[in-house]
Amino acid sequence: MTDTTPALRLENIVKTFPGVRALDGVSFAVLPGEVHALLGENGAGKSTLMKVLGGVHQPDSGTIYIEEEPVVMTNPLEAKSKGVVFIHQELSLAEELSVAENVYLGELPRKRFGRVDWKRLHADTAAILDRLNCGFGPGAIVGELSIAKRQMVEIARALTVDAKAVIFDEPTASLTDAEKEVLFDIIRDLREQGVGIVYISHRMEEIFRISDRISVLRDGSHRGTLITAETGEDEVTRLMIGRSLDLSRNVARTAPGEVAFEVRGLSCEGLFEDVSFELRAGEVLGFYGLVGAGRTEIAETLFGLRTPRSGEIHLKGRAVTLHSPVDAIRHGISLVPESRKEQGLVLGMNCRDNITLPQVDDLTAGPFVSDGAEIAIFDQYRDRLDIKTPSWRQQVGNLSGGNQQKIVIGKWLAMRPDVLIVDEPTRGIDVGSKAEIHNLIRELAAHGYAVIVISSEMPEVLHVADRIVAMYHGRIMRTFTSDEVTEDSLVQAISGLGQDSAA
Ligand SMILES: Nc1ncnc2c1ncn2[C@@H]1O[C@H](COP(=O)(O)OP(=O)(O)OP(=O)(O)O)[C@@H](O)[C@H]1O
Ligand SMILES: [Mg+2]
Repeated sequence: MTDTTPALRLENIVKTFPGVRALDGVSFAVLPGEVHALLGENGAGKSTLMKVLGGVHQPDSGTIYIEEEPVVMTNPLEAKSKGVVFIHQELSLAEELSVAENVYLGELPRKRFGRVDWKRLHADTAAILDRLNCGFGPGAIVGELSIAKRQMVEIARALTVDAKAVIFDEPTASLTDAEKEVLFDIIRDLREQGVGIVYISHRMEEIFRISDRISVLRDGSHRGTLITAETGEDEVTRLMIGRSLDLSRNVARTAPGEVAFEVRGLSCEGLFEDVSFELRAGEVLGFYGLVGAGRTEIAETLFGLRTPRSGEIHLKGRAVTLHSPVDAIRHGISLVPESRKEQGLVLGMNCRDNITLPQVDDLTAGPFVSDGAEIAIFDQYRDRLDIKTPSWRQQVGNLSGGNQQKIVIGKWLAMRPDVLIVDEPTRGIDVGSKAEIHNLIRELAAHGYAVIVISSEMPEVLHVADRIVAMYHGRIMRTFTSDEVTEDSLVQAISGLGQDSAA
């Protein structure tokens, strides 16, 4: 960071949406060759600021400078041509097209007479994919790739120009640890080449690992910029949410009740093998492991989305067969899936209806849905989860990413299931609301619900779970109680390093 002319700079940016002042005069600069983390609660304005920079939104006022030249970004392709590339929080790929077409979308190489130069398109794309160590080719159809791989396509797209600045908006949310390391290598490479990097994430450990400076936004204003090496999580958290957090571990609870749910010898071809566990009413069971350990697939099987090859599922002592999610819901099992796309949000519909959607049946008095009852339910979850929206009438598609996630959680909580399975419940959620969601999960258990929490974040399982199932490659390696578990033994178990000697 010897060069002090910013690669880019935003000055006094104001951006309002109906009922929301998303950015209230924010100034922000990125130096060449620095990783600048942008932090803030859900709805603080991070994505909006970057969308202004990337030409997605026009600011109401304020100026953007690239190397101290004022510029106007009228659309993302223009921003890109000026060297500002953007890896979005919500993937924005054309699923029916190939990887190569997506990477060069809007700027396909052409021959004379305007025909697409497929040979060059594939060769250029292959070169970028190589650099990213992708493991898929330019011809693959994006819709058939995993979320993590789609993320890599999105990154590949950013690397087609000589960038001055690259913006990553929560890039690691769906990456495996190995993929995350590849991403960090790419970021380090870019940084060494003198590119300015903006890195948005809610994961503190990543931010402290890779950033040089940290800027904090709160309610649309810039609260400060800190040098990473000179600050700590506590200071950053206080700047972000105005208070410190209790990050203590779960302690022994009241004795759990009857066995609510029991799984015996469940196997699913190639995904998981011989999975057995029981879950009592009032208990939170954590499933911890690396992305790809088979946890999501187990959840999907317990929700009737996959047919197991063998094994049994017992509910309150009775064997059940779950043919479909409708079956599962009828038996009182709910699943909050990990991927936003499958979480059943209707982006064009308002916040209230999204939360109350699954239970309209119960609320319907004759042919009329009771508006008052629905609004009351919405209000309750808005307060509990601190959902930031000007009103219940706001379309869910206009909420910030983390606030959309909160609507999903509210929706499934509002169903009051007997067995609630949540897969990565706080992905994309800021640290303050994360704690709130953990409390909610604990509270559900205290009311006698049985809860399964799948998570890739160790602090999360340590914080909410009474017992922790450690998984590796589709198998349960060990089950820990909250008193006996240590971070080391958990890491060992999910890495397949065999039985911990203290066991
Ligand atoms: N297109 C839009 N229409 C209306 N309101 C919007 C729109 N985009 C963003 N907002 C509002 O602007 C505010 C800032 O949202 P933004 O997406 O920038 O938050 P964020 O800091 O990125 O949060 P998160 O961590 O949840 O991603 C929020 O209140 C959001 O609801
Ligand atoms: Mg965002």
